[in-house]
Amino acid sequence: MADEITGTTLGATHPQPADDRSRKPTVIVFGNEKGGTGKSTAAMHVIIGLLREGFQVGAIDLDARQGTLTRYFDNRRIYAARRGLRLPHPVYRTVSRSELAERSAAETEERERLDHAIDSLSNCDFIVLDTPGSDNHLSREGHSHADILITPLNDSFVDLDLLGRIDSENNKMLAPSKYSEMVWEQKKRRVQRGEGSIDWIVMRNRLATLDSRNKRKMDQALNEISRRLGLRLIAGFSERVIFRELFLKGLTLLDIREEGTDVTLTMSHIAALQEIRNLMRAIGIERQGEEESEAPTSSLEMSMPSGRIA
Ligand SMILES: Nc1ncnc2c1ncn2[C@@H]1O[C@H](COP(=O)(O)OP(=O)(O)OP(=O)(O)O)[C@@H](O)[C@H]1O
Ligand SMILES: [Mg+2]
Repeated sequence: MADEITGTTLGATHPQPADDRSRKPTVIVFGNEKGGTGKSTAAMHVIIGLLREGFQVGAIDLDARQGTLTRYFDNRRIYAARRGLRLPHPVYRTVSRSELAERSAAETEERERLDHAIDSLSNCDFIVLDTPGSDNHLSREGHSHADILITPLNDSFVDLDLLGRIDSENNKMLAPSKYSEMVWEQKKRRVQRGEGSIDWIVMRNRLATLDSRNKRKMDQALNEISRRLGLRLIAGFSERVIFRELFLKGLTLLDIREEGTDVTLTMSHIAALQEIRNLMRAIGIERQGEEESEAPTSSLEMSMPSGRIA
């Protein structure tokens, strides 16, 4: 159902633009060259979180081959139609990789496709890009548009290695990874284009509650890496069934209070809501004056702090 950018069908828009559209959308990129770290899952939750606060959100799936985000939205639209629900939807696009054989021609085509997709979403408050779990030119182009880059990371030294090489003796960072170098390159490109730097956030994902020894070691290593690479570290999501079980319905935890869904919000979801709220706060969306205890009976009520959107 998604627009192939070379194709035609678009996702729906809800809610409608409410205010000044002259400002540039804030671009949030979910990226990590490691596969399966939670990019698409976190992207989906942030997109729905923003929509539920009344922002106009565009989404671009740069992982057309896998198409997880696109399928999530397709599932959402089918579920909403079947049940007669008025769920908020982003406007979404899929940008595919070029099939041209000549490298520079292929890169130009990919750059143009992405620019076209971003331009077509220029009336949005936010544009969220989901990237594949591997390096390619299109993904690098995507990173170069990031005002905010969010890198989900499984709680494992194997994943940490994708950010920087760590000395096992003293937890010092020996060298940045290829991915960190690539992000650095994109930061430089942005600064040269006068677009400002990239606010790089690393969020831990699928945290286990029991493994406290591993967690402590990871804490140390991650703190060192964040200091050296100039990134912000946030707590992220724990391992929870709720983050994966709603995919086929295209729902998130933020939707299940909607009348007409067949999912019940339980006490165990409160902590998950808090984790989503922490992520939203890290990207500058703050709920105001709401007590923790209200979480299960209230959607995330957040407001855009002045200054986040240029
Ligand atoms: N916090 C979580 N709790 C439980 N399951 C999770 C959590 N985060 C992600 N998952 C599950 O982990 C798997 C990988 O997640 P996801 O597809 O979001 O990762 P990805 O980084 O987008 O992967 P890829 O690199 O292949 O695109 C999925 O099965 C997803 O449902
Ligand atoms: Mg993905």
